[in-house]
Amino acid sequence: METILRTLPPVTDPRVLVGLNTGDDCAVYQISDDVAIIETVDYFTPIVDDPYTYGRIAVANSLSDVYAMGARPLFALNVVGFPAHGELPLEILSEIMRGGGDKAREAGVEIIGGHTVDDKEPKYGLAVTGTVNPGGIVRNSTARAGDILFLTKPLGIGIITTGIKRGTSSQAAIDRAVEVMSKLNKGAAEAMVAVGVSACTDITGYGLLGHLGKMTRSSGVGARIHSRAVPVIQAARDMIDADLNAVPGGSRNNLAYALRFVNFDPGLSEAERLLLADAQTSGGLLISCPEEKADRLEEALRASGAITAARIGIMEAEDDTGRIDVLA
Ligand code: CO
Ligand code: CO
Repeated sequence: METILRTLPPVTDPRVLVGLNTGDDCAVYQISDDVAIIETVDYFTPIVDDPYTYGRIAVANSLSDVYAMGARPLFALNVVGFPAHGELPLEILSEIMRGGGDKAREAGVEIIGGHTVDDKEPKYGLAVTGTVNPGGIVRNSTARAGDILFLTKPLGIGIITTGIKRGTSSQAAIDRAVEVMSKLNKGAAEAMVAVGVSACTDITGYGLLGHLGKMTRSSGVGARIHSRAVPVIQAARDMIDADLNAVPGGSRNNLAYALRFVNFDPGLSEAERLLLADAQTSGGLLISCPEEKADRLEEALRASGAITAARIGIMEAEDDTGRIDVLA
């Protein structure tokens, strides 16, 4: 995807504050001294069986990129694919929209339009518009050596959602994954903005290592993380411990790619490495916070109701920029 984006013409307008070059989560365009518009679009195919729940998750996921940049989403448009010739009952579509609408309302975001195309496989998400003060943009490219890394949701979503498709995930595992995926990153983002942090991104399809790698490369630093400190949904850990094939192909590809810039402690098992690369849907925020503010951030994240406020590692000065060391 990154390579495809590189074939777009270069951005020359100085009002473009965040464009394509840093792999950031949203586009940001300045319209006055203290207001910039932030814009993102995201949608995907169903990952749970219940259409209402799918709608809630898709909206939490679509809003996440705005929160990751410390911005406030204002309104959104539905982006919908649905079979137009009666292959699926229309009630399914209205349930998806109802779930999405409820989640958007929880976020204080109005959905005020959208577009539907005929598509054999349903797809749903949002194009989101928000605002941010140009001085308050939280980028992924501004992490500094010495920063503490925080993660606000546990990993393991890819394993459990793959298990849903294969019929191998328990109801308890599904319930936990749904709870994690449908949780808005709003509170965590507000906590991070209140404290003032160096950098942030959200964890989605490239997994923790992929998104952390983007952050270290674009920031010109390295990172050291502790596998044991990374929160993981227990059910996902149990599934991969029982069978390495519980991991989706995308997560395996993520790990293969990460080997270019990650050094693993030789004591780390294949299962532990795969978990760190597991592709997430609507994952948590990965926040790079100055050390002297780390205690305040942890407190603010807990008060915000973030699922986790886990310290998973530290950013380091690194000659070989982008390098990540994973300790046991
Ligand atoms: Co993102
Ligand atoms: Co996105």
